[in-house]
Amino acid sequence: MANDGNLDVLVICGSLRKASYNAALARMLPRLAPPALKFRDAPSFGGFPLYNADVQNASGFPADVTALADAIRAADAVMIVSPEYNWSIPGVLKNAIDWLSRLKEQPFKDKPVAVQSTAPGLLGGARMQYHLRQSLTTLDVLWFGRPEVIVNLAAKKFDEKTLELTDQPTIDMVKLQLAAFEKFIRKVGGK
Ligand SMILES: Cc1cc2nc3c(=O)[nH]c(=O)nc-3n(C[C@H](O)[C@H](O)[C@H](O)COP(=O)(O)O)c2cc1C
Repeated sequence: MANDGNLDVLVICGSLRKASYNAALARMLPRLAPPALKFRDAPSFGGFPLYNADVQNASGFPADVTALADAIRAADAVMIVSPEYNWSIPGVLKNAIDWLSRLKEQPFKDKPVAVQSTAPGLLGGARMQYHLRQSLTTLDVLWFGRPEVIVNLAAKKFDEKTLELTDQPTIDMVKLQLAAFEKFIRKVGGK
């Protein structure tokens, strides 16, 4: 990877809903990142079957699991932007991770990964972030540490109609994180 070239960052959003605050946060990435970070939305994992080893043994990996794995492998880094469900990782995202984890050639291995979350509540999805860190550590990701982006009280920080992020301290924090993430990706290597 060139030391000053563009870096391809795959964005995985843990919410499937149209008016998602997390999807809105993810849409801000290109605007708030250093110019060398180029973001691409991950192929959808909303249609993955619920993980069942019998299904895997009988029919192999579904094509959309392979597509997501290929997209992760091809990227220099991954950004996961996700809500917290019941103090943890949303089931759809965890199900996707479970499928990916069964592949022989691990897509997440040695991949720089950062995380962001937002929620209407006070903790902004923080508990999901720590569960995700735990879960993906078993797949040997290279976790980006700080600064963290945990956006609480989402209804006050995103425009009600456009869902644009309007809270300046949050915008500044996202910028700081993305600048540090670029340095981290260059340091640890990416793909
Ligand atoms: C099944 C479910 C569980 C939830 N659990 C939590 C939770 O543990 N912590 C939290 O902050 N918000 C929780 N919420 C509220 C979500 O943060 C809120 O719905 C948020 O808008 C979801 O993210 P999204 O807007 O990106 O879809 C939960 C919502 C759902 C539907």
